[in-house]
This record gives sequence, C-alpha cells and structure tokens, in this order.
Amino acid sequence: MSLWQTYYTPTSVEDALHLLAQHGAGARVVAGGTDLLIELERDLRRVPALIDVSRIPDLGKLELEDGILHVGPLVTHNRLSASELVARTALPLAQAAWSVGGPAIRNRATLGGNLVTASPANDTITPLWAMEAVVTLRSTRGERTLSFPQFYQGVRRVDMAPDEMLVDVRLPAMAPNERGIFLKMGLRKALAISIANVAVVLRFERGTVVRARIALGSVAPTIIRVPQAEGALIGSPLTPEQIDRAAHLAAQAAAPIDDIRARADYRRRAVHVLVRRALTALGRGEERAGLPTDPPLLWGRKEGHIYRLAGKTIQHTATGDEPIECNVNGENTIVRGANGKTLLQMLREDVGLTGVKEGCGEGECGACTVWLDGAAVLACLVPAPRAHGAQIVTIEGLSHGDALHPLQQAFIDAGAVQCGFCTPGFVMSGAKLLEEIAHPNSEQIKQAIAGNLCRCTGYYKIVQAIETAAQANER
Ligand SMILES: Cc1cc2nc3c(=O)[nH]c(=O)nc-3n(C[C@H](O)[C@H](O)[C@H](O)COP(=O)(O)OP(=O)(O)OC[C@H]3O[C@@H](n4cnc5c(N)ncnc54)[C@H](O)[C@@H]3O)c2cc1C
Ligand code: FES
Ligand code: FES
Repeated sequence: MSLWQTYYTPTSVEDALHLLAQHGAGARVVAGGTDLLIELERDLRRVPALIDVSRIPDLGKLELEDGILHVGPLVTHNRLSASELVARTALPLAQAAWSVGGPAIRNRATLGGNLVTASPANDTITPLWAMEAVVTLRSTRGERTLSFPQFYQGVRRVDMAPDEMLVDVRLPAMAPNERGIFLKMGLRKALAISIANVAVVLRFERGTVVRARIALGSVAPTIIRVPQAEGALIGSPLTPEQIDRAAHLAAQAAAPIDDIRARADYRRRAVHVLVRRALTALGRGEERAGLPTDPPLLWGRKEGHIYRLAGKTIQHTATGDEPIECNVNGENTIVRGANGKTLLQMLREDVGLTGVKEGCGEGECGACTVWLDGAAVLACLVPAPRAHGAQIVTIEGLSHGDALHPLQQAFIDAGAVQCGFCTPGFVMSGAKLLEEIAHPNSEQIKQAIAGNLCRCTGYYKIVQAIETAAQANER
C-alpha cells in the first residue's frame, strides 16, 4: 500500500507555504522522514499529500548574526555536530545532535523534524530550551515567533497550525563567560532514545556562578526547567556540596513516568546523576570531552548538504505514472509506479537491486544503508520520490566489474560474514568511512558502524576488516 497520495517537492519556502494553504490538514511536511515515515507506516492511513521541504536551500542556513545563532530547520544533526560554529557558540546543541541515532540517521534527520515531533525524549529540544531559543513559524497568513514554553503544549503537541511551517530557530550565542553541556542516558551508546537527558548553561563572574539554566528531557510531558536547582547555584563557586544540592533539587522537580525504557524512580535517579555529572564537568572545564573533534559523518568529502536539483516544484502522484529519474550505480534509471514507496522498496522491487536488505524497516538495523548524493542514508526511511534527480549507490555499485571493493575483499579475508544479511549495510557504511577518513582509528570505526547491527558474526571481525582495508588505503 502506498503511504501517501501525492508527493510534492517544492524548491522555495513560498511554494511550500502555498501547498500547505491549499491542502491544510490533508498535508504533512516531510524533511528527513526519519520520524514521519515510521509514523505513516504505523498509522496505515494514507496521507493525501506529503510536502518534501528537503530541497529548499533557504531552510538549511546555519549562521551567526549579531550574537544570534540562526539554525534553519533543515540543518541535519550531522551538520550540527560537525559545525565549528555550533561547537563554539552552542556546545550543548552540538552534543545533543551528535547523540541522535547513528550516522546514517543523522545525515537525513533534521533539527526541524526533531523539534516538531515534540517527543519529550527528543534530544535537541533540551539544550535549545536551556539556551532560551525561539522558533519562527510562517504561513501564507503571516509569521509568528514563539518561545519554547509557548511552542510546546504537551507530549507530541506543538502550537502550530496545519498551514504553518517552521522556518527558523534562533538562540543567543553563549557568551565568553558562559559554559554549557548536554548529557544523555540511554540503554546503549548509539540508536538509543533518552531515558533522561539534561542541558546546563552557567555564567561565571570571577569564579562565581551568576546565572544558571538547567533543562531536563524525558522526565515530564515536555522539557522542563528547574528554577529551584538553578537558584541553588547562584552566588557561589561550584562546590561539591552545591552540585549535590542542585542535583537533588533537579531530581525532585522531575515528573517522570514508567515506560518500556525505564521506571519513573530510575529516571529520577538518572536526573540526579546527570545533573551532578554535568555540573562537575563544567566546574572542571571538561564539558567538551563528549564531542569528538574528528567524527565520522559518512557524508563523504563534501559539506553535508544534500540538496541537488533546483527548479520548479515537482509533483509525483502515488497512483500516477510520473517517472522517478535518478542515477543508480552510474546508470541513468527511470522508474515508474514507485511513487508511494520507500527508496528501499523501489530499489528492491522496481530496480531489482536485492543487495539492499530490509532488516527492520524502521531505521534500527542499518541493513538498508545506501549512498544518496554521496551520503550514507537508510533507504527504508527515504521516500522514493526523494530520489528523483539524485545519485544512488548500492552494494551492487561498489565493485568494478569483477574487481571487488577493497572492503568487500577484506570482509571475505577476515571472515566477517556469517549469514551475510547485515553485510551490505556494514560495507556501505565502512566504505564511506574510508572515503572520508583514510586511516580511521578504532573509535572512529565503531562510531561509523554504530547504526549497523549484526546478529551472528559479532563485531570484532567486522572492525578488523575495516582496519585491514584502511591499511591498503593510500597514505
Ligand atoms: C533509529 C532511530 C533512532 C533515532 N534516535 C533518536 C535519538 O537518539 N534522539 C532523538 O532525539 N531522535 C531520534 N530519532 C528520531 C528522529 O530521527 C529525529 O526526531 C529527527 O530529527 C526527525 O527529523 P526528520 O527531518 O527526519 O523529520 P521528519 O520525519 O521529516 O518529520 C518529523 C515531523 O516534523 C514535521 N516537520 C519537519 N520539518 C518541518 C518544518 N520545517 N515545518 C513544519 N513541520 C516540519 C513533519 O511534518 C513531522 O511531523 C531516531 C529515529 C530513528 C528512526
Ligand atoms: S534500518 Fe532500514 S531496514 Fe533496518
Ligand atoms: S552476518 Fe548475519 S546478521 Fe551479520
């Protein structure tokens, strides 16, 4: 069954707003699709119109203007976590973005999508709340700017009309005498939704805390600030006693629930631990430790903008015969009848490339990893019409004639394959890593394959295969 009826790809904000005005509640905006596609799959109701805003360059700006950082809603988590500007002016936001999903998720998933989904566990909301960011919404009726407490109305509820779109997020850059940090606790290091997260920003004058902002995520229906804990820090240096008192007050203010990831009392305890760790790191000046300086992004050698294709708005109808024209493994390819499908379905069912595997269909396993315009992405979370005008490389396109890619050969030599189901995904992630970082260290290798799961080989031989292939890379 197709997930939507008509798929629009506007290339300007104005065109997108007119489409929203025309379709009202019958339309949904899609950016990276990493939340929305799963929602549509689960809902099983076909949405009349999807409006794909991911080709609108105006929505992807990231700039500092008069001390205010502007982040366009299309900025991906990988761009945020790799940006020197964000690390310098809004470190907690960079750290939160780095903690989202795995690399292929972060290449498509956007800040705007994370904010609008409005789960209290969504990681970037917490630092932006602490940093007193505002969102700008636009429709054909006009524009309005809301603070985070105004925008967020409950679990997955925001103050945004069906014809409105998020067009800008702005926040004051951290001053030289301010320090901030974001910390998260999940069930594992990657692909883990927060059990609890915390963002802290402190302002110091001559060693004394003169302003404190602490926001907590995943422990109440929305992100919360904790004024009593903040107040307890003002007027003195960060002593262990002060830190413990603030952590205690923050934990008391949390209103968590039991759910599949953790019980409420565990979450409250997690808040205590995270606030204590955050304040201790800030006191020691160690807040940058959690953000790698040279992270693998799996976007190749470019800057992480996946726009391509400008021009007039393109319309694909799920039931219609409009072609999706793209380049697959170096060949110009025209696909008809795949308009209501995911890229994974299109590649397997319509193009016949069954090396792209479906393990989970919801972004959790990495078996469907392909390259879209040079960046590793998860094909199960990309709408097929998004491939129109794009270049796609799958595992079938990695070898040249009979010559395997060095990493494919290294997988064979290292015995890094058992059932082989996960292998195409690992190889696509690993090969992109080696293109980006010729000689990755073991931490970078683990970070690069953090979104790929193997249920039978185990990871030692896979890491070994990537190390072996890296040794063959030219120095
Ligand atoms: C395996 C996996 C792991 C994940 N891990 C994490 C994690 O660790 N932490 C975390 O916080 N999230 C996580 N997520 C959730 C998700 O990736 C993020 O929320 C992501 O930022 C959503 O962005 P997107 O561009 O993909 O949004 P989309 O799916 O495109 O859209 C999400 C929602 O936002 C709306 N929207 C998007 N852009 C706009 C706009 N400009 N104006 C108005 N509405 C808009 C859409 O209509 C939709 O309702 C994970 C998801 C998966 C599948
Ligand atoms: S991540 Fe796409 S099938 Fe599992
Ligand atoms: S080799 Fe079987 S799942 Fe990885």
